[in-house]
Parts: sequence; C-alpha cells; structure tokens
Amino acid sequence: MTNIKQLQTPAILLDLDRLEHNLKKYSDAAKAKGKQIWPMVKTHKSTELARMQVRYGCTGFLCGTLDEAEALAAAGMDNIMYAYPVVTDASVKRVVALAQRCNFIVRIDNVEAARAIDLGAGASGTTVNYTIIVDSGLHRFGVKPEKVLAFAEELKQFKNLRFKGISTHPGHVYGATCKAEVAQYCEDERNSIATAANALRDNGYTLEIISSGSTPTFWGSLDDENIMVYHPGNYIYNDAIQLSTETATEEECALYVLASVISHPSEDLFICDAGAKCLGLDQGAHGKNSVKGFGVVKGHPEVTVLALSEEVGKLHVDGATDLKVGDRIMIIPNHACSTGNLTRYCIGFRGEQAERLIEVDIRGNSTSKNFV
Ligand SMILES: Cc1ncc(COP(=O)(O)O)c(C=O)c1O
Repeated sequence: MTNIKQLQTPAILLDLDRLEHNLKKYSDAAKAKGKQIWPMVKTHKSTELARMQVRYGCTGFLCGTLDEAEALAAAGMDNIMYAYPVVTDASVKRVVALAQRCNFIVRIDNVEAARAIDLGAGASGTTVNYTIIVDSGLHRFGVKPEKVLAFAEELKQFKNLRFKGISTHPGHVYGATCKAEVAQYCEDERNSIATAANALRDNGYTLEIISSGSTPTFWGSLDDENIMVYHPGNYIYNDAIQLSTETATEEECALYVLASVISHPSEDLFICDAGAKCLGLDQGAHGKNSVKGFGVVKGHPEVTVLALSEEVGKLHVDGATDLKVGDRIMIIPNHACSTGNLTRYCIGFRGEQAERLIEVDIRGNSTSKNFV
C-alpha cells in the first residue's frame, strides 16, 4: 500500500474513516427522530459513494442533474427525486423514462414546466410524480409559501401528474457567517414549510412527502414536525465553508487536495502545485463570503491560500512557519462539492495509507447524450 505522502501531486484525497463518520452521524440522528435522508448527489457524483450512503441508511436520493438520476436508477436505486423543473422535449423524455423505471419524483414551481411534463407523460401513458417547490428564502426556485395552495389547485388540470407533496432548500443559509446565525435560516425553512403544508392539509391535500434540507440547517430542523425527508449534500465531505459556521469540525472534513510546496519566492510567500483546477474558486455559495482565502491548510494555521492560478496556488505566511519547499500539504477546500467535480477519481485513504480509487463517474458530460 502507498503512503499518501508518496502520491503524485496534486491529488484529491478522501479520508474514508471521516467520510464514514459523517454518514453515520447524520444517519443515526435522522433515525433517532424517525426521519429519512435522501442525500443530494451533486456533492459527490459517484455511484460508489451513493451505494455507501444506502449502506448507512439513506432511503432515497435528490439529484442535481438528470445524469445523476439515470445513473442511480441504472444502479438499482429507488426513490429518486430531481431537484428542478424540466421543460425541453429532451429533458421531459428523460423524466418520463425515469418515472417508468423507479419511484421518481420531479420538483415543479411553474405551470409551463407542469404542462410540458404532463404532455410528455400523457403521450407515453405514464403518470409522473411531483412535489411543489416552496421558496423558503433562497429566492431561486419556488412558490411563496402562502401561494402554494393556489398553485397546487392550478396544477390539478394536469391529469398525467401526481401530487406527492412539497420540497424546499434553504440554501440562503450560506449567507450565515457564524453558528449563531444559522438558527434564523432554520426558522425560515420550518415556517415556510409549515405555512404551505397547513394550507394544503386544511384544504384536503394529503402530503406523502415533505422534504427539505441543507447541511448547515440539518441539525436545527431535524425535529421539525412537518419535514419527513432531509437532503443534506455537503455533509459527506464537509469543507472550509462548513467550518466557518461550525457545522463541522476540522476532524470531520473528509476531502483534501494534496499538494507539494514547489517554490518560496519571498519570505512570506510559498507556491504549491494545486490551483483553481483542483481547489475551485468558490469563496461561498450564492455569492456570500464567509471564508478567508481558498482553503484551509491542515496543520498550518499560519498559512492562508491567498490566490489561485489555474495550476498553482499562492500561500501567504503570517508569522513563524516550518513550511519549506518539498513539503506535502493537505488543503481542505472551501467548497468540497466543486472540488469533487474537478477530478475523475478521488484516492480513498485511511490513516496515512492510500486504499482505493473512488470514481466520480457521474460528472457533467460523463455521458454523451447529445450524440447518441
Ligand atoms: C435543492 C438542493 N437541496 C439540497 C442541497 C444540499 O445542500 P448542502 O450541500 O448544503 O447540504 C442543495 C445544494 O446545493 C440543493 O441545491
């Protein structure tokens, strides 16, 4: 077995003990409250990691691309939700095919998408399940909570669609800059869901699924009386953005960029061989900025990842350091979902030993749909 310090750099590493700890921690907590986890797959885009999530008790998946949904259906997974509406003929066909293959649910927030899916479903004699997206404050997709009932009524005209419930993603939580601020986003999530769910129930609707979630709001919303299914994504890896709100500890960060220090051009500056094409340029989701630099260098609090070129990074040192040219460093990226998408595989390790490759097999353009 290879010691990770001997690996070629840059490399993207996965600490399998930490990853398993994260999966167990969230699954145990959900189980204790009688809740389900259908994790967001776009974080890892890996069939192998999805299988691990099932082994740790996940009962379904939320997908950010149809490629992810199709790959998981092909791997025999059930309970697959697609997070966004579809409207084009090609996407509608894929949604209808998924509905024929597994327990598939698409999310809808506009009548045009509903009409397009209804038409496609009707043409092939299929019924497509959907949830209505509630806007809980991110102001991206979604219907305002107090307008969800009227929207549900409007969708009744579509006979090839089956109403299953409501979903939201409180992604505006990434505007939080510390732990104390996360609570207000959980309130937004819970109140929006309650307003929409109560209006629907009061008017005779059965809500088979009420689903929501993000990694930072998971803990503050887990005991919600309405939410049944949670969709954390980043929790499998954690990253510097989760550290900034104390959603995770450094010991719970599982994904690293391994880099070598290759130059020392001035007293307070070192250069490493990992840049934007490994670490990603994210400094916070949804335009927010809660982190310093472009990653956290393990064991070197005096070092800031100051700037990134495509293939190299500038490391600024503040004060005394034992860093030197030739050293290997492990960098926790700001946004592990982006870093994980920048490689075809991660190297899984335990302790200091590299154990196996984990394919990131469902990345964008990993299928050639436009040409087949
Ligand atoms: C719709 C939706 N649900 C859930 C998630 C998971 O959020 P997180 O990665 O914070 O756990 C995301 C991530 O962006 C998302 O877009």
